[in-house]
Amino acid sequence: MSYKKNITRYSIALAITALTVSTQSLQAQDKSSLKKVFAKDFGIGTAMSAAQIEERDPKANAVILQHFNMATPENIMKAEIIHPQWDVYNFDLADKMIAYGQKNKIKINGHTLIWHSQLPAFARNIKSVDSFRTFFTNHINTVAGRYKGKIFSWDVVNEALNEDGTMRKSIFLNRLGDDFVTEAFRLAAIASPKTELYYNDYNNEQPAKRAGCIALMKKIQDAGVRIDGVGIQGHWHVGKVPFKDIEESILQYAAMGLKVMFTELDIEVLPRSFQGADVNQRVASNPALNPYKEGLPDSVQQQLASDYENLFKLFLKHKDKVTRVTFWGVNDGQSWLNDWPVRGRTNYPLLFDREFNPKPAYYKVIDTKK
Ligand code: XIL
Repeated sequence: MSYKKNITRYSIALAITALTVSTQSLQAQDKSSLKKVFAKDFGIGTAMSAAQIEERDPKANAVILQHFNMATPENIMKAEIIHPQWDVYNFDLADKMIAYGQKNKIKINGHTLIWHSQLPAFARNIKSVDSFRTFFTNHINTVAGRYKGKIFSWDVVNEALNEDGTMRKSIFLNRLGDDFVTEAFRLAAIASPKTELYYNDYNNEQPAKRAGCIALMKKIQDAGVRIDGVGIQGHWHVGKVPFKDIEESILQYAAMGLKVMFTELDIEVLPRSFQGADVNQRVASNPALNPYKEGLPDSVQQQLASDYENLFKLFLKHKDKVTRVTFWGVNDGQSWLNDWPVRGRTNYPLLFDREFNPKPAYYKVIDTKK
């Protein structure tokens, strides 16, 4: 064999090795970050607690920066915290959240302007329609106005519907009538013109509630008021994720010209007597309701992983319609599902365990991109 041929063979072999090494390192790098793996598909978000916003939890902070490019404050923009009294606003933590997002290139979804839960006592006690309307208008103008040009999106109205698709008999409906949803979007669009505006709810993938949700959003559109997207919270239960309803919802909502988001994703593994995510619905503690204190059985771990895998396959199938998938919390230990609807349980609903290690579900989710 000539010297020249040998050289050519040698360089081809080198090139192949280099290529293998670089794809391997790409895969290794990819596996280590949700936001990188799904960069071309949809945003990947997490809910952030006050401690996380203030960067008081270094391990959580590292995971957030590695995996997420979108975030929603879990509580601190809710009315009871941001607007505790008639003329008192508490913007400290919300300002920090916005600064955190700017510093780390994380898009912030404001949660939430109008919601019947976690309302301050003063608002719950307003009897006069005029005063209630003033509270409603001031609240949206002041809070949405403050983050104008700084916040990516708002959940303008949260959970205005009952399970059968009718309007929830909330204080907003009671004082303002059922146009309050359209009014909230109208005010938000004026206060923060460049911010995306969403309607957000749980179980709105279920057919009856979905029909009500479509009617409600159609009403907003018909009034000539801007609405950009719809959030399906996605608080589901292991082994019972309603894939068919979810797919139909993605298609039907997208057909209205709306972006579709999964805004509070978690899959709980503990027994539950009802569906949904009404934060006011609670169940008394009982050891039988807390079966996995010492650890999650492997069969449940595998089912959880497979549910997450199938969900992400579905999201990818409709990546032209799904713009964001947000998990409701960073790791299992910090999930609200340890305390709701039953206090003091040990739940396992997310992709990272209590030590911030990726769970089998994490790898299944990543592998949907293979
Ligand atoms: C939850 C928070 O995670 C808890 O910390 C808080 O105590 C109650 O609210 N739907 C929503 C979220 O829109 O705001 C709720 O968050 C969960 C259900």
